Amino acid sequence: RGAPIVDGHGRVHRDLRISLTDRCSLRCTYCMPEQGNEWLARSSILTTPEIVRIAGVAAEAGISTFRLTGGEPLLRRDVVDVVRGIAALRTPAGEPVQVAMTTNGITLPQFLPALIEAGLSRLNISLDTVHPERFRELTRRDRFDDVMAGIAAARASGLRPLKINTVAMRGVNDDELPDLVAYAISQDAQLRFIEQMPLDTGHTWDRERMVTREEILAALGERWDLEPIPGRGGAPAERWRLTGPGSPAGEHTVGVIASVTAPFCGACDRMRLTADGQLRNCLFARGEYDLVALLRGRQGAGGEAGHDGVDDALIDAQLRACIDAKLPGHGINDPGFLQPDRGMNAIGG
Ligand code: GTP
Ligand code: 5AD
Ligand code: SF4
Repeated sequence: RGAPIVDGHGRVHRDLRISLTDRCSLRCTYCMPEQGNEWLARSSILTTPEIVRIAGVAAEAGISTFRLTGGEPLLRRDVVDVVRGIAALRTPAGEPVQVAMTTNGITLPQFLPALIEAGLSRLNISLDTVHPERFRELTRRDRFDDVMAGIAAARASGLRPLKINTVAMRGVNDDELPDLVAYAISQDAQLRFIEQMPLDTGHTWDRERMVTREEILAALGERWDLEPIPGRGGAPAERWRLTGPGSPAGEHTVGVIASVTAPFCGACDRMRLTADGQLRNCLFARGEYDLVALLRGRQGAGGEAGHDGVDDALIDAQLRACIDAKLPGHGINDPGFLQPDRGMNAIGG
Protein backbone atom coordinates (compact mmCIF):
# COMPACT_ATOMS: atom_id res chain seq x y z
CA ARG A 1 0.00 0.00 0.00
CA GLY A 2 1.05 3.58 -0.58
CA ALA A 3 2.83 2.74 -3.84
CA PRO A 4 1.36 4.07 -7.11
CA ILE A 5 -1.07 1.87 -9.04
CA VAL A 6 0.80 0.56 -12.08
CA ASP A 7 -0.55 -1.85 -14.70
CA GLY A 8 1.23 -4.67 -16.50
CA HIS A 9 2.23 -2.28 -19.28
CA GLY A 10 3.92 0.22 -16.98
CA ARG A 11 1.11 2.81 -17.02
CA VAL A 12 0.89 4.66 -13.71
CA HIS A 13 -2.71 5.47 -12.77
CA ARG A 14 -3.43 8.98 -11.51
CA ASP A 15 -7.05 9.56 -12.49
CA LEU A 16 -10.30 8.07 -11.15
CA ARG A 17 -13.58 8.83 -12.93
CA ILE A 18 -16.59 8.35 -10.70
CA SER A 19 -20.08 8.01 -12.14
CA LEU A 20 -22.58 9.42 -9.62
CA THR A 21 -25.71 8.19 -11.38
CA ASP A 22 -26.67 6.48 -14.64
CA ARG A 23 -29.68 8.79 -15.05
CA CYS A 24 -29.71 11.83 -17.28
CA SER A 25 -31.89 14.86 -17.96
CA LEU A 26 -31.28 14.53 -21.73
CA ARG A 27 -31.77 11.65 -24.16
CA CYS A 28 -29.02 12.20 -26.74
CA THR A 29 -29.77 9.95 -29.69
CA TYR A 30 -26.17 8.66 -29.78
CA CYS A 31 -26.34 7.64 -26.13
CA MET A 32 -29.70 6.19 -25.12
CA PRO A 33 -33.22 5.51 -26.35
CA GLU A 34 -36.07 8.00 -26.02
CA GLN A 35 -37.61 6.20 -23.06
CA GLY A 36 -34.26 6.01 -21.26
CA ASN A 37 -32.66 2.83 -20.04
CA GLU A 38 -33.53 0.45 -17.28
CA TRP A 39 -31.95 2.47 -14.46
CA LEU A 40 -29.84 1.04 -11.69
CA ALA A 41 -31.77 0.20 -8.51
CA ARG A 42 -31.40 2.96 -5.92
CA SER A 43 -30.23 0.48 -3.30
CA SER A 44 -27.27 -0.50 -5.49
CA ILE A 45 -26.02 3.08 -5.87
CA LEU A 46 -22.98 3.96 -3.76
CA THR A 47 -23.69 6.40 -0.94
CA THR A 48 -21.62 9.55 -0.48
CA PRO A 49 -19.63 8.10 2.45
CA GLU A 50 -18.90 4.98 0.37
CA ILE A 51 -17.68 7.08 -2.57
CA VAL A 52 -15.51 9.27 -0.36
CA ARG A 53 -14.06 6.23 1.35
CA ILE A 54 -13.06 4.63 -1.96
CA ALA A 55 -11.65 7.95 -3.18
CA GLY A 56 -9.63 8.22 0.02
CA VAL A 57 -8.01 4.83 -0.52
CA ALA A 58 -7.35 5.76 -4.16
CA ALA A 59 -5.74 9.07 -3.11
CA GLU A 60 -3.42 7.20 -0.78
CA ALA A 61 -2.38 5.14 -3.80
CA GLY A 62 -1.48 8.24 -5.77
CA ILE A 63 -4.74 9.04 -7.58
CA SER A 64 -4.64 12.83 -7.76
CA THR A 65 -7.51 13.69 -10.12
CA PHE A 66 -11.09 12.69 -9.55
CA ARG A 67 -13.69 13.40 -12.21
CA LEU A 68 -17.38 13.18 -11.38
CA THR A 69 -19.51 12.02 -14.30
CA GLY A 70 -22.88 10.39 -14.91
CA GLY A 71 -25.30 10.02 -16.56
CA GLU A 72 -25.70 13.56 -15.37
CA PRO A 73 -23.87 14.08 -12.06
CA LEU A 74 -26.00 17.09 -11.07
CA LEU A 75 -29.08 14.85 -10.87
CA ARG A 76 -27.62 13.53 -7.68
CA ARG A 77 -29.02 15.57 -4.80
CA ASP A 78 -25.94 15.17 -2.61
CA VAL A 79 -23.44 16.06 -5.35
CA VAL A 80 -22.08 18.97 -3.30
CA ASP A 81 -21.31 16.62 -0.40
CA VAL A 82 -19.46 14.28 -2.75
CA VAL A 83 -17.34 17.18 -4.00
CA ARG A 84 -16.67 18.39 -0.47
CA GLY A 85 -15.66 14.93 0.75
CA ILE A 86 -13.26 14.27 -2.11
CA ALA A 87 -11.82 17.81 -2.23
CA ALA A 88 -10.65 17.39 1.38
CA LEU A 89 -8.37 14.46 0.40
CA ARG A 90 -4.62 14.80 0.00
CA THR A 91 -2.12 12.94 -2.19
CA PRO A 92 0.71 11.04 -0.43
CA ALA A 93 2.85 14.17 -1.05
CA GLY A 94 0.33 16.23 0.89
CA GLU A 95 -1.05 18.08 -2.13
CA PRO A 96 -4.80 18.65 -2.41
CA VAL A 97 -6.46 16.43 -5.03
CA GLN A 98 -8.30 17.89 -8.01
CA VAL A 99 -12.05 17.38 -8.31
CA ALA A 100 -13.44 17.96 -11.80
CA MET A 101 -16.89 17.39 -13.23
CA THR A 102 -18.32 16.55 -16.64
CA THR A 103 -21.92 17.77 -16.94
CA ASN A 104 -24.56 18.70 -19.51
CA GLY A 105 -24.79 22.08 -17.74
CA ILE A 106 -28.50 21.91 -16.91
CA THR A 107 -29.08 23.23 -13.33
CA LEU A 108 -25.47 24.36 -13.12
CA PRO A 109 -26.44 27.97 -12.20
CA GLN A 110 -28.22 26.70 -9.14
CA PHE A 111 -25.43 24.35 -8.02
CA LEU A 112 -22.29 26.20 -9.01
CA PRO A 113 -21.72 28.49 -6.00
CA ALA A 114 -22.04 25.56 -3.59
CA LEU A 115 -19.87 23.30 -5.78
CA ILE A 116 -17.10 25.88 -5.84
CA GLU A 117 -17.37 26.49 -2.12
CA ALA A 118 -17.10 22.71 -1.66
CA GLY A 119 -13.85 22.63 -3.66
CA LEU A 120 -14.69 21.86 -7.29
CA SER A 121 -11.62 22.60 -9.42
CA ARG A 122 -12.75 22.25 -13.04
CA LEU A 123 -15.76 21.83 -15.33
CA ASN A 124 -16.27 20.21 -18.73
CA ILE A 125 -19.66 20.87 -20.28
CA SER A 126 -21.18 18.91 -23.17
CA LEU A 127 -22.71 20.76 -26.12
CA ASP A 128 -23.14 19.28 -29.59
CA THR A 129 -24.83 22.14 -31.43
CA VAL A 130 -25.35 25.89 -31.25
CA HIS A 131 -28.77 25.62 -32.96
CA PRO A 132 -31.70 25.40 -30.50
CA GLU A 133 -33.92 23.35 -32.81
CA ARG A 134 -31.13 20.91 -33.62
CA PHE A 135 -30.41 20.61 -29.90
CA ARG A 136 -34.00 19.59 -29.28
CA GLU A 137 -33.88 16.92 -31.98
CA LEU A 138 -30.54 15.57 -30.87
CA THR A 139 -31.22 15.49 -27.13
CA ARG A 140 -35.00 14.93 -27.40
CA ARG A 141 -35.44 17.57 -24.72
CA ASP A 142 -36.20 21.29 -24.93
CA ARG A 143 -33.36 22.41 -22.63
CA PHE A 144 -31.09 24.46 -24.91
CA ASP A 145 -31.61 27.65 -22.91
CA ASP A 146 -30.80 25.84 -19.67
CA VAL A 147 -27.50 24.62 -21.12
CA MET A 148 -26.68 28.15 -22.34
CA ALA A 149 -27.39 29.44 -18.84
CA GLY A 150 -25.16 26.70 -17.39
CA ILE A 151 -22.27 27.65 -19.66
CA ALA A 152 -22.76 31.35 -18.86
CA ALA A 153 -22.65 30.54 -15.15
CA ALA A 154 -19.47 28.51 -15.60
CA ARG A 155 -17.91 31.37 -17.52
CA ALA A 156 -18.83 33.87 -14.82
CA SER A 157 -17.58 31.60 -12.05
CA GLY A 158 -13.97 32.00 -13.18
CA LEU A 159 -13.23 28.24 -13.00
CA ARG A 160 -10.59 27.67 -15.68
CA PRO A 161 -9.80 26.01 -17.93
CA LEU A 162 -13.45 25.65 -18.90
CA LYS A 163 -13.94 23.01 -21.59
CA ILE A 164 -16.83 22.26 -23.92
CA ASN A 165 -17.13 18.71 -25.33
CA THR A 166 -18.71 18.13 -28.73
CA VAL A 167 -19.27 14.74 -30.32
CA ALA A 168 -18.86 15.32 -34.08
CA MET A 169 -21.54 13.52 -36.09
CA ARG A 170 -21.99 13.15 -39.83
CA GLY A 171 -25.16 14.76 -41.13
CA VAL A 172 -25.97 16.09 -37.65
CA ASN A 173 -23.50 18.81 -36.68
CA ASP A 174 -20.61 18.45 -39.13
CA ASP A 175 -21.71 21.68 -40.88
CA GLU A 176 -21.18 23.81 -37.75
CA LEU A 177 -17.81 22.74 -36.36
CA PRO A 178 -16.10 26.17 -36.70
CA ASP A 179 -19.26 27.85 -35.34
CA LEU A 180 -19.05 25.68 -32.24
CA VAL A 181 -15.42 26.76 -31.76
CA ALA A 182 -16.40 30.42 -32.18
CA TYR A 183 -19.17 29.99 -29.61
CA ALA A 184 -16.74 28.38 -27.14
CA ILE A 185 -14.30 31.25 -27.61
CA SER A 186 -17.10 33.72 -26.86
CA GLN A 187 -17.56 31.91 -23.55
CA ASP A 188 -13.82 31.84 -22.76
CA ALA A 189 -13.95 28.06 -23.10
CA GLN A 190 -11.82 25.50 -24.99
CA LEU A 191 -13.77 23.37 -27.41
CA ARG A 192 -12.85 19.71 -27.85
CA PHE A 193 -14.31 17.60 -30.62
CA ILE A 194 -14.78 13.92 -29.84
CA GLU A 195 -14.84 11.02 -32.27
CA GLN A 196 -17.94 9.00 -31.55
CA MET A 197 -17.19 5.67 -29.85
CA PRO A 198 -19.23 2.45 -29.87
CA LEU A 199 -20.78 2.94 -26.45
CA ASP A 200 -24.50 3.63 -26.91
CA THR A 201 -26.98 1.32 -25.24
CA GLY A 202 -28.78 0.72 -28.54
CA HIS A 203 -25.58 -0.53 -30.24
CA THR A 204 -26.20 1.74 -33.24
CA TRP A 205 -22.63 2.98 -33.67
CA ASP A 206 -21.57 3.09 -37.30
CA ARG A 207 -17.97 3.77 -38.26
CA GLU A 208 -19.13 5.48 -41.47
CA ARG A 209 -21.12 8.07 -39.52
CA MET A 210 -18.23 8.90 -37.23
CA VAL A 211 -16.55 12.17 -38.17
CA THR A 212 -12.82 11.49 -37.93
CA ARG A 213 -10.00 13.58 -36.53
CA GLU A 214 -8.82 14.24 -40.11
CA GLU A 215 -12.25 15.48 -41.18
CA ILE A 216 -12.57 17.69 -38.11
CA LEU A 217 -9.18 19.28 -38.80
CA ALA A 218 -10.09 19.82 -42.47
CA ALA A 219 -13.33 21.57 -41.49
CA LEU A 220 -11.56 23.86 -39.02
CA GLY A 221 -8.75 24.47 -41.52
CA GLU A 222 -11.24 26.19 -43.79
CA ARG A 223 -11.58 29.00 -41.25
CA TRP A 224 -8.25 29.07 -39.39
CA ASP A 225 -4.65 27.94 -39.51
CA LEU A 226 -3.97 25.34 -36.84
CA GLU A 227 -0.65 25.19 -35.03
CA PRO A 228 -0.14 21.95 -33.07
CA ILE A 229 0.59 22.29 -29.36
CA PRO A 230 3.11 19.64 -28.27
CA GLY A 231 3.18 17.89 -24.89
CA ARG A 232 -0.13 16.26 -24.26
CA GLY A 233 0.94 13.98 -21.41
CA GLY A 234 -1.82 11.55 -20.43
CA ALA A 235 -4.59 13.85 -21.71
CA PRO A 236 -6.99 12.40 -24.29
CA ALA A 237 -7.15 15.60 -26.35
CA GLU A 238 -4.58 16.73 -28.92
CA ARG A 239 -4.64 20.52 -29.10
CA TRP A 240 -4.05 23.20 -31.69
CA ARG A 241 -3.67 26.97 -31.47
CA LEU A 242 -5.84 29.00 -33.86
CA THR A 243 -3.66 31.31 -35.94
CA GLY A 244 -3.66 33.09 -39.27
CA PRO A 245 -5.87 35.77 -40.74
CA GLY A 246 -9.35 35.83 -39.25
CA SER A 247 -8.22 34.17 -36.03
CA PRO A 248 -9.79 35.67 -32.92
CA ALA A 249 -7.86 38.10 -30.72
CA GLY A 250 -6.02 36.47 -27.81
CA GLU A 251 -4.79 32.92 -27.59
CA HIS A 252 -7.39 30.28 -28.38
CA THR A 253 -7.11 26.54 -28.78
CA VAL A 254 -9.19 23.69 -30.06
CA GLY A 255 -8.84 20.03 -29.12
CA VAL A 256 -9.66 16.69 -30.73
CA ILE A 257 -10.21 13.48 -28.80
CA ALA A 258 -9.56 10.88 -31.50
CA SER A 259 -10.32 7.76 -29.48
CA VAL A 260 -11.01 5.66 -32.57
CA THR A 261 -8.62 6.77 -35.32
CA ALA A 262 -5.71 7.77 -33.04
CA PRO A 263 -6.19 5.97 -29.72
CA PHE A 264 -4.24 7.33 -26.76
CA CYS A 265 -4.43 4.11 -24.73
CA GLY A 266 -0.63 3.89 -24.53
CA ALA A 267 -0.66 6.90 -22.17
CA CYS A 268 -3.87 5.99 -20.33
CA ASP A 269 -3.78 6.82 -16.62
CA ARG A 270 -7.48 6.32 -15.85
CA MET A 271 -9.67 3.97 -13.92
CA ARG A 272 -13.41 4.12 -13.48
CA LEU A 273 -15.95 3.57 -10.73
CA THR A 274 -19.58 3.04 -11.73
CA ALA A 275 -22.49 4.44 -9.74
CA ASP A 276 -23.23 0.91 -8.49
CA GLY A 277 -19.75 0.41 -7.13
CA GLN A 278 -17.99 -1.55 -9.87
CA LEU A 279 -14.42 -0.75 -10.84
CA ARG A 280 -13.44 -0.81 -14.50
CA ASN A 281 -9.92 -0.55 -15.90
CA CYS A 282 -11.14 0.79 -19.26
CA LEU A 283 -14.23 2.31 -20.89
CA PHE A 284 -14.25 -0.84 -23.00
CA ALA A 285 -13.34 -3.34 -20.27
CA ARG A 286 -15.18 -6.65 -20.47
CA GLY A 287 -15.05 -7.24 -16.73
CA GLU A 288 -15.70 -5.30 -13.53
CA TYR A 289 -14.31 -5.50 -10.01
CA ASP A 290 -16.91 -5.36 -7.30
CA LEU A 291 -16.32 -2.78 -4.57
CA VAL A 292 -19.87 -2.39 -3.31
CA ALA A 293 -20.06 -6.00 -2.15
CA LEU A 294 -16.71 -5.58 -0.46
CA LEU A 295 -17.76 -2.36 1.27
CA ARG A 296 -21.07 -3.72 2.39
CA GLY A 297 -19.51 -6.83 3.85
CA ARG A 298 -20.80 -9.44 1.45
CA GLN A 299 -17.35 -10.48 0.27
CA GLY A 300 -13.91 -10.67 1.82
CA ALA A 301 -13.94 -8.66 5.05
CA GLY A 302 -12.64 -11.62 7.00
CA GLY A 303 -15.91 -13.39 6.30
CA GLU A 304 -17.96 -11.44 8.81
CA ALA A 305 -21.44 -11.23 7.33
CA GLY A 306 -23.09 -7.90 8.01
CA HIS A 307 -19.81 -6.35 9.05
CA ASP A 308 -20.34 -2.73 8.03
CA GLY A 309 -16.86 -2.05 6.90
CA VAL A 310 -13.77 -3.65 5.47
CA ASP A 311 -10.19 -2.87 5.97
CA ASP A 312 -8.96 -0.17 3.57
CA ALA A 313 -6.28 -2.67 2.55
CA LEU A 314 -8.94 -4.79 0.83
CA ILE A 315 -10.23 -1.81 -1.13
CA ASP A 316 -6.66 -0.97 -2.09
CA ALA A 317 -6.07 -4.57 -3.20
CA GLN A 318 -9.20 -4.47 -5.36
CA LEU A 319 -8.03 -1.23 -7.05
CA ARG A 320 -4.71 -2.90 -7.84
CA ALA A 321 -6.28 -6.18 -9.03
CA CYS A 322 -8.48 -4.21 -11.44
CA ILE A 323 -5.56 -2.30 -12.95
CA ASP A 324 -3.34 -5.36 -13.00
CA ALA A 325 -5.73 -6.92 -15.54
CA LYS A 326 -5.82 -3.89 -17.85
CA LEU A 327 -5.32 -4.61 -21.54
CA PRO A 328 -2.96 -2.45 -23.62
CA GLY A 329 -5.81 -0.85 -25.60
CA HIS A 330 -9.52 -0.75 -26.30
CA GLY A 331 -9.49 -2.94 -29.41
CA ILE A 332 -12.19 -0.94 -31.25
CA ASN A 333 -10.26 -1.38 -34.47
CA ASP A 334 -9.56 -5.09 -33.98
CA PRO A 335 -11.57 -7.79 -35.74
CA GLY A 336 -14.05 -9.35 -33.32
CA PHE A 337 -14.32 -6.21 -31.14
CA LEU A 338 -17.28 -6.45 -28.80
CA GLN A 339 -18.98 -3.39 -27.40
CA PRO A 340 -19.20 -3.40 -23.57
CA ASP A 341 -22.47 -4.62 -22.05
CA ARG A 342 -23.14 -1.31 -20.36
CA GLY A 343 -23.58 2.01 -22.13
CA MET A 344 -21.63 5.22 -21.67
CA ASN A 345 -24.21 6.55 -19.21
CA ALA A 346 -23.62 3.64 -16.82
CA ILE A 347 -19.84 3.43 -17.29
CA GLY A 348 -19.38 7.11 -16.69
CA GLY A 349 -17.82 8.35 -19.95
P1 GTP B 1 -9.80 16.53 -19.07
O1 GTP B 1 -9.14 16.10 -17.83
O2 GTP B 1 -10.37 17.92 -18.96
O3 GTP B 1 -8.98 16.35 -20.31
O4 GTP B 1 -11.12 15.62 -19.22
P2 GTP B 1 -11.41 14.34 -20.06
O5 GTP B 1 -11.36 14.67 -21.50
O6 GTP B 1 -10.58 13.25 -19.61
O7 GTP B 1 -12.91 14.03 -19.63
P3 GTP B 1 -14.35 14.27 -20.22
O8 GTP B 1 -15.28 13.69 -19.25
O9 GTP B 1 -14.54 15.69 -20.59
O10 GTP B 1 -14.41 13.39 -21.51
C1 GTP B 1 -14.33 13.87 -22.82
C2 GTP B 1 -14.40 12.70 -23.79
O11 GTP B 1 -13.24 11.92 -23.66
C3 GTP B 1 -15.59 11.76 -23.57
O12 GTP B 1 -16.10 11.33 -24.79
C4 GTP B 1 -14.95 10.62 -22.84
O13 GTP B 1 -15.64 9.43 -23.04
C5 GTP B 1 -13.61 10.59 -23.49
N1 GTP B 1 -12.66 9.93 -22.61
C6 GTP B 1 -12.32 10.31 -21.36
N2 GTP B 1 -11.44 9.45 -20.84
C7 GTP B 1 -11.22 8.52 -21.82
C8 GTP B 1 -10.42 7.38 -21.90
O14 GTP B 1 -9.72 7.00 -20.99
N3 GTP B 1 -10.48 6.67 -23.05
C9 GTP B 1 -11.24 7.04 -24.10
N4 GTP B 1 -11.19 6.29 -25.18
N5 GTP B 1 -12.01 8.11 -24.06
C10 GTP B 1 -12.01 8.84 -22.94
N1 5AD C 1 -18.62 8.54 -27.98
C1 5AD C 1 -17.91 9.64 -27.63
N2 5AD C 1 -18.31 10.53 -26.71
C2 5AD C 1 -19.49 10.30 -26.14
N3 5AD C 1 -20.16 11.00 -25.22
C3 5AD C 1 -21.31 10.36 -24.94
N4 5AD C 1 -21.41 9.23 -25.69
C4 5AD C 1 -20.29 9.20 -26.46
C5 5AD C 1 -19.80 8.29 -27.43
N5 5AD C 1 -20.48 7.22 -27.78
C6 5AD C 1 -19.67 12.26 -24.68
C7 5AD C 1 -20.74 13.17 -24.15
C8 5AD C 1 -19.98 14.02 -23.19
C9 5AD C 1 -18.79 13.19 -22.79
C10 5AD C 1 -18.75 12.83 -21.36
O1 5AD C 1 -18.87 12.01 -23.57
O2 5AD C 1 -21.30 13.95 -25.17
O3 5AD C 1 -19.50 15.20 -23.79
FE1 SF4 D 1 -7.71 3.99 -21.35
FE2 SF4 D 1 -9.44 2.23 -22.27
FE3 SF4 D 1 -9.70 4.84 -22.81
FE4 SF4 D 1 -7.78 3.38 -23.96
S1 SF4 D 1 -9.98 3.20 -24.21
S2 SF4 D 1 -7.54 5.38 -23.09
S3 SF4 D 1 -7.23 2.02 -22.25
S4 SF4 D 1 -9.89 3.83 -20.83
